Amino acid sequence: MYHNIPPLLLLLLVISVDCQSASTLKCTDVAIQSLCIDQEACDQCLQAHPCCNWCYDQNYDGRQCNVLENLSACPETKLELNTENKVEIPEFGNQPFTDGSAKEIIQLRPQFLNVYLAKDIPQNFTFTYKPAKNYPLDLYYLGDLSASMMAHLSVFKTIGADLPNNLTQLTENYKLAYGSFLDKVAMPFYLMAPDTYNNPCSVFSSEECETGYLFKHWLGFTKDTDTFIKKIINSKITANLDDLDGALDAILQILVCDKKIGWSKNSRKIILLPTDSLLHSAGDGILAGAVLKPNRTCLLDDEGNHMSPLTYDYPSFAQIHALLNEKKVNIIFAVKTQRKLEYYKSLTTELFKDSGFVGELEEDATNILELINKGYYNFVRQVKFFINTTSSENLDVKFFGDCDRLGIFNETSACYNVENEPVDFTVQLTLKGPPTKLSDVFYVEERNINERITLNITYTGHCSCDNYDGEELECLNGDFRCGKCMCQEEWTGKLCEENCDSKDFSSCKSSSDGYICNRNGDCICGKCSCNPPFNGQYCQYRCPTSKDGQVCSGPAQGKCIEDKCECINDFEYEDCSCSKSKSRCKLFEEMEFCSGNGNCVCNQCRCNAGFSGQFCESNKENNTLCEEYIKVIEDAILSGTNTAYKGTTKISIQEVNEDKRKSLCNDTECETVIYQGNSRCTIKCCYLKQDGDVHWLTTKSCVLTAGFAALTSGIVALALVLLAGAFFIACAKYRIYRLEQEEYRKFQNESGTLHEMNPIYKDPVSTYRNPMREKND
Ligand SMILES: *[C@@H]1O[C@H](CO)[C@@H](O)[C@H](O)[C@H]1NC(C)=O
Ligand SMILES: *[C@@H]1O[C@H](CO)[C@@H](O)[C@H](O)[C@H]1NC(C)=O
Ligand SMILES: *[C@@H]1O[C@H](CO)[C@@H](O)[C@H](O)[C@H]1NC(C)=O
Ligand SMILES: *[C@@H]1O[C@H](CO)[C@@H](O)[C@H](O)[C@H]1NC(C)=O
Ligand SMILES: *[C@@H]1O[C@H](CO)[C@@H](O)[C@H](O)[C@H]1NC(C)=O
Ligand SMILES: *[C@@H]1O[C@H](CO)[C@@H](O)[C@H](O)[C@H]1NC(C)=O
Ligand SMILES: *[C@@H]1O[C@H](CO)[C@@H](O)[C@H](O)[C@H]1NC(C)=O
Ligand SMILES: *[C@@H]1O[C@H](CO)[C@@H](O)[C@H](O)[C@H]1NC(C)=O
Ligand SMILES: *[C@@H]1O[C@H](CO)[C@@H](O)[C@H](O)[C@H]1NC(C)=O
Repeated sequence: MYHNIPPLLLLLLVISVDCQSASTLKCTDVAIQSLCIDQEACDQCLQAHPCCNWCYDQNYDGRQCNVLENLSACPETKLELNTENKVEIPEFGNQPFTDGSAKEIIQLRPQFLNVYLAKDIPQNFTFTYKPAKNYPLDLYYLGDLSASMMAHLSVFKTIGADLPNNLTQLTENYKLAYGSFLDKVAMPFYLMAPDTYNNPCSVFSSEECETGYLFKHWLGFTKDTDTFIKKIINSKITANLDDLDGALDAILQILVCDKKIGWSKNSRKIILLPTDSLLHSAGDGILAGAVLKPNRTCLLDDEGNHMSPLTYDYPSFAQIHALLNEKKVNIIFAVKTQRKLEYYKSLTTELFKDSGFVGELEEDATNILELINKGYYNFVRQVKFFINTTSSENLDVKFFGDCDRLGIFNETSACYNVENEPVDFTVQLTLKGPPTKLSDVFYVEERNINERITLNITYTGHCSCDNYDGEELECLNGDFRCGKCMCQEEWTGKLCEENCDSKDFSSCKSSSDGYICNRNGDCICGKCSCNPPFNGQYCQYRCPTSKDGQVCSGPAQGKCIEDKCECINDFEYEDCSCSKSKSRCKLFEEMEFCSGNGNCVCNQCRCNAGFSGQFCESNKENNTLCEEYIKVIEDAILSGTNTAYKGTTKISIQEVNEDKRKSLCNDTECETVIYQGNSRCTIKCCYLKQDGDVHWLTTKSCVLTAGFAALTSGIVALALVLLAGAFFIACAKYRIYRLEQEEYRKFQNESGTLHEMNPIYKDPVSTYRNPMREKND
């Protein structure tokens, strides 16, 4: 829809360029510079590092890929500059929030972003969700007309007048619709004997009732509450045979018959299902000969009757689940009996996790308005975002939400406590691996609302100088691209004029009977290209490598010259891996390095035989640091201070718990006992050096001395009693938990086959129930 707007006319409003690379890019780094100059082609160059840029002037003498500072001789018009990550928000994509009565409701801001993304450099952007006041609500009332639900219909005679008031409290823009259902009219779901067929209630009641039906849609969405209530009150009761009903069939039609039902495009959509029975699902229909798998075809006729109830099987839970998500519809199950409540709760936790809400309906159904209210707020309070991508192979997306509005972004795409205030989310996009195309369009969507944020992503790292139609070099054996002849294999030179005969290896051998490049590299056009860590004209030299495989521990620590490392920046050792500093070899300034019991090598003590510890301070029976310093620590604790001095060194003392102390210091434990008032306190402590400061971490555990013993044993007895009680409760809970597990199993089967819509055969016998008995229960 935005593509009709000429890009030039768009006033771009650059909101944030909070690119990490921009602030911390250090293109002067030698390693980065050498990375750039190794790149032979333009695209490669831009993708190698954000610091690398390309000069496509064919007369340029230096390396065409280089950091910008070193390309100053390149004409400015012939620079292919690396685009830094950035986010631009055009004016049309930053419309202000509106409320629910606006023509176009806006709850997400911004709505459109241009994102420029380079490989491996994360880019953040932030968007805000602000729930609109009076956001439209479409509430579909799906009545269960089985006899046992009689009461919930008549309740509308009394609560009818409250309904508009109560709904207005939620939103002024509500619409209501009504439909009712029973079950497939066929054995074994329905009594087919002639007398009961017409009046199924005759079995258990003198009251007349209607012949059963699967689903009838009575009233499409309307603002007219009176008609809605009238339709409900005028509905007649009917009855079926088993304890399960055809609600899923009804829900399926409500979801797929968009036009007949009249769902609004932008609205919160809720189906309210008051019920006291369980749900027939895929496979059950086979018993009545309904074998076809239902699909998304609407099966309602012009009167709203289900046209082919006995042709199609019941839908599966998975099918309904997928449709609810796709159509962004939620369900409130208002359930009458306690036992069934558990069934619907497990159904909701297992399957309809974000789209379902369960509440207990009172026997006389008078709390139905309260349930609508609770269900509505349950859905309104949660937002859950996702990115709708089809080709996201290389794009990594992370959501961070500030759900508590404290400015703290936790990694989550959902908030469950949204009130009327705006909530901010940060999205971090990272392109992992080279881009496979120039651009992409993705959408940030919310699970329930019909709005989205468009991300117009441009992958940087593609040179446009490919299309440059200026003066060209006459490449003899190659193509001219971005100011350079890209030579075919075996050709080299500025114009690819030089044939490097791959058979001529003589210049790659140090002697006539030697190996080509000493078997440590390839001979390319008469020159050795060595595999690291080898170097030299014939790859005959090899510099020491550090443990992580870097030659001379990497360019920041040493240079490889022939077969020796020349260390720089305060490093030493043959592979330049050692820092010259000895700071970690003693705890205190006055101390000898390694307590005089070892050598400081690579800033680490190597202790003489019989000594151990970070500072070689311990022998078998003695830790000299403990002996020497414990007095200082004791004095500090007794005088309540947390700094002390030993010589010129400041010691900071911190009381921590046992676990923390053990995790921070290893085997540097000291122990002493002090007396404070009535207590005898054991002090365990340890020392560590951090950023040049000396820290002692202490843990104090005190016991009261005699006189308090009687009190203590009383407390122990009390604790035992409490413990026994807790154990008893835990046992009871476990029993209930096992019972619930039993009920879960059926649904786990369903949810396990989420993507498999094939009917699942279920044993009918276990679920059959006599409605008479149910009534007597
Ligand atoms: C870039 O220029 C600096 C300063 O002129 C120089 O020290 C450095 O070696 C150059 N780097 C490359 C890769 O040419
Ligand atoms: C993006 O935002 C998250 C959450 O605030 C933060 O942890 C991360 O460092 C940010 N990344 C960048 C590249 O700014
Ligand atoms: C649904 O199924 C019927 C037959 O079972 C078929 O005629 C119809 O094309 C199907 N519709 C869709 C949308 O698949
Ligand atoms: C519904 O409205 C009535 C009257 O306006 C009020 O007494 C009742 O508390 C409301 N119920 C709910 C659940 O809001
Ligand atoms: C993603 O967006 C496209 C285009 O709007 C839509 O057809 C598709 O259903 C969406 N997919 C999901 C999973 O929401
Ligand atoms: C965010 O993360 C912190 C630390 O992990 C945690 O303490 C806090 O409860 C989290 N906040 C939310 C809203 O999840
Ligand atoms: C989307 O990004 C492309 C560049 O990849 C740009 O040409 C186009 O103008 C952008 N679309 C809009 C509507 O800004
Ligand atoms: C323990 O250390 C102290 C103080 O350094 C020292 O005087 C003493 O001789 C040591 N004891 C043993 C048994 O090594
Ligand atoms: C603790 O000991 C382990 C192994 O003995 C060692 O690798 C680690 O560096 C030590 N930690 C501290 C804080 O001394």
